[in-house]
Amino acid sequence: MSQRLRIALTKGRLQDKSVELFEKMGLDCTPIRHPGRRLIHSVPNYPLDAVLAKAPDVITYVEHGVCDLGIVGKDTILEKGGAFYEVLDLGFGRCRFALAVKEGTDFYATYKTRRVASKYPAVTRAFFERKGMDVDIIKIEGSVELAPILGLADGIVDIVETGATLKENGLTPIEDVAQVSARLIVNTASMKLHKQEILDFIQQCQANLSGT
Ligand code: PRP
Repeated sequence: MSQRLRIALTKGRLQDKSVELFEKMGLDCTPIRHPGRRLIHSVPNYPLDAVLAKAPDVITYVEHGVCDLGIVGKDTILEKGGAFYEVLDLGFGRCRFALAVKEGTDFYATYKTRRVASKYPAVTRAFFERKGMDVDIIKIEGSVELAPILGLADGIVDIVETGATLKENGLTPIEDVAQVSARLIVNTASMKLHKQEILDFIQQCQANLSGT
């Protein structure tokens, strides 16, 4: 009998796209589509249980091996890092990290240390380290666009999808930091212990990716 796999899905937008992909693969996702307050759901016609979690927790569960697989954004992977295999770019959840400033301001005009606000301090630090530039990073938990508007920061590093949030708040992207999309990740021990089941699952995901 084949081993039942457990996958951690990032709640929200990536969850919906993951379910669309699974349904293309022929998985009955009724329990995941109607979760109620339950957080773990068995797929009735495939040896897979799905756990719904916040993005950083998806990585934590996969790293610790309590989930064999996970679907999480590259943004979270870049910020949190961790020891796991990143096996597939799923192509959905596409957006980018960008450095953005108030329209009409020149981020590079001064020699003073710039302040940059972000929900992603590690990504921001790595970006400016690559440039050899010393900046003060201020961690913000959400609606980071407020920081330059309120005068707390000279710029932000944030996720840009359509660009509407920046535009509506008088900000403009000046540089791309990294491209982002959803990734399938695998626990390193699971990959050895349940190799065939996991390779089959990856292959089925891959075969159903286009147009997701
Ligand atoms: C993200 C991001 C931007 C917005 C970008 O925020 O932080 O604010 O989406 O999308 P857009 O380019 O399509 O306008 P999210 O909705 O995740 O909430 P948050 O601001 O609380 O992080």
